[in-house]
Amino acid sequence: MERTLVLLKPDAVQRGLVGTIIARFESKGLKIVGLKARTFERSLLEKHYEVHKERPFYGNLVDFMSSGPVCAMALEGKDAIAVVRTLVGKTNAREAAPGTIRGDYGMSFSNNLVHASDAEDTAKFELGLWFSDAGELSDWTPADLEWR
Ligand code: TYD
Repeated sequence: MERTLVLLKPDAVQRGLVGTIIARFESKGLKIVGLKARTFERSLLEKHYEVHKERPFYGNLVDFMSSGPVCAMALEGKDAIAVVRTLVGKTNAREAAPGTIRGDYGMSFSNNLVHASDAEDTAKFELGLWFSDAGELSDWTPADLEWR
């Protein structure tokens, strides 16, 4: 089993798409093991996007991500990191395939609704940043586990 971090960005919250997007992940069979929503500190977003620090879009990205509530969740499942990335679609929502979350709901490159960890090491780093292991993440067994 693998865990990954998903953020529903401020545009997803502002557009009332939180329930719709979470439903995509749940319907797929991913398990929610952590969930919280609020406006997060700029310092957290700076650390989260540290890898892009030298890129020209970094400042705008951090401004955007700290501009309003974000819904952060930890999802668990087999190959969860890759599965979630596939569901989310290409970074530029205009180019993202229909059937993906960005492809179905987005028209923007930078305001593209969802963040999802892209590899095992980044998932570990990001989950540690957004959730405290003691208390904020739950281990639970779905009743239909053998189907997943
Ligand atoms: P990135 O990690 O490359 O994409 P993804 O979110 O698909 O893993 O970039 C992080 C975010 O930065 C991306 O979701 C949108 C924003 N961004 C821009 O605004 N301009 C850009 O040129 C790039 C590459 C990303």
